[in-house]
Amino acid sequence: MVFRFDVVGVGALNFDSIAPVSPAARSLLRGGVDWGAECRVGAATVDAAMRTVHAAVVRVAVGGSAYNTVAALAHTGAGLRLGYVGVAGRLPVPGAPIVQRLQRLGIDTELVRDVPGELSGVCLSLVKDGERTLLVHPGANDRMAGHLESRFEQVVQYLSAARTVHVTSLLDERSPAVLADVLAAVRDRSPETALTFDPGHVWAGSGTAPVAALATMADHVLVNERELLALGATGDDTWAADRILRVGRPGRVVHVKRPAGVTTFIRSGPLLRARFHPQDTLAADLVLDATGAGDLYAAGVLAALAGGAHQHDGVRLGLALARHKLLHLADAGHADLAAVYEDWARRRARTG
Ligand SMILES: Nc1ncnc2c1ncn2[C@@H]1O[C@H](COP(=O)(O)OP(=O)(O)OP(=O)(O)O)[C@@H](O)[C@H]1O
Ligand SMILES: [Mg+2]
Repeated sequence: MVFRFDVVGVGALNFDSIAPVSPAARSLLRGGVDWGAECRVGAATVDAAMRTVHAAVVRVAVGGSAYNTVAALAHTGAGLRLGYVGVAGRLPVPGAPIVQRLQRLGIDTELVRDVPGELSGVCLSLVKDGERTLLVHPGANDRMAGHLESRFEQVVQYLSAARTVHVTSLLDERSPAVLADVLAAVRDRSPETALTFDPGHVWAGSGTAPVAALATMADHVLVNERELLALGATGDDTWAADRILRVGRPGRVVHVKRPAGVTTFIRSGPLLRARFHPQDTLAADLVLDATGAGDLYAAGVLAALAGGAHQHDGVRLGLALARHKLLHLADAGHADLAAVYEDWARRRARTG
């Protein structure tokens, strides 16, 4: 099978800002947010929160979980052919529009719907002691379900031309069901196309049938501990991973991400095999910005899949990329992602 793309990302496109949690922001949001998680908020709330932290905003960039992953892949210099499916609104600041920014990174935008008349998604990340709380206003991303429905056939064809499709969450109610239909059609059309799925906190905890269907279809389900428990409903890691892997095609993997390393679960016949991939945990005072570290982990898994590497090598690359991200604010360290990737490729070549 000859694929047109190595990786196509599917998900939100946001304007991201990062600021330390101020006492004013804390009191503004008291009772209204789940600290440490990702919360959908209205335009007025995100606007008020932005104002309380205004002078303290430390970095702004285009973001969105799948965007972060695909942009990181572009920076690895691995020469991957990348595409994106999403809806781009107008950024709330001056500068190049989202579509142009994607194109500059060499990411194909044929199926990025451009809606310049509408505000883009906005995501404010409030950081404290290495933990981040995301306030997300969906903006133009709320048009995603409509975008997928109106161009269903083109989207299915586009995704079927990818070696791997990486799906992340959208916050509107309809997208999960429409995406599940799209991906079921992709599975029929191109069974060789791998699906990686990072549901994030909101989808993992939603308990809906379409999100469960996406998790069942995925060849790699990427979650942190909190999200795994939310997806698996209750019980410990093994129980929750077992629930996810009980159905679906063979070879599916659940990755459980923690500061101390990643546990991969894979089903082999009636057995569930777990393997822990340890790493040196960074001390909290060294973590400059945890926003998007999970997205960089996904980039490692995807780069390894694209290069035909073993999934354990993908875990190692993902951990190295996430670690690098944690040491830098937003995308400030992206110029060095190629060096992280090369280092990984060199070690891999050495160990055979
Ligand atoms: N202190 C730490 N030292 C080293 N690695 C860490 C540390 N904390 C987290 N990590 C790694 O960073 C990644 C964080 O992934 P996780 O999915 O938990 O992020 P997240 O909170 O969902 O972030 P986002 O969705 O914004 O990317 C994991 O790969 C984890 O192993
Ligand atoms: Mg995440």
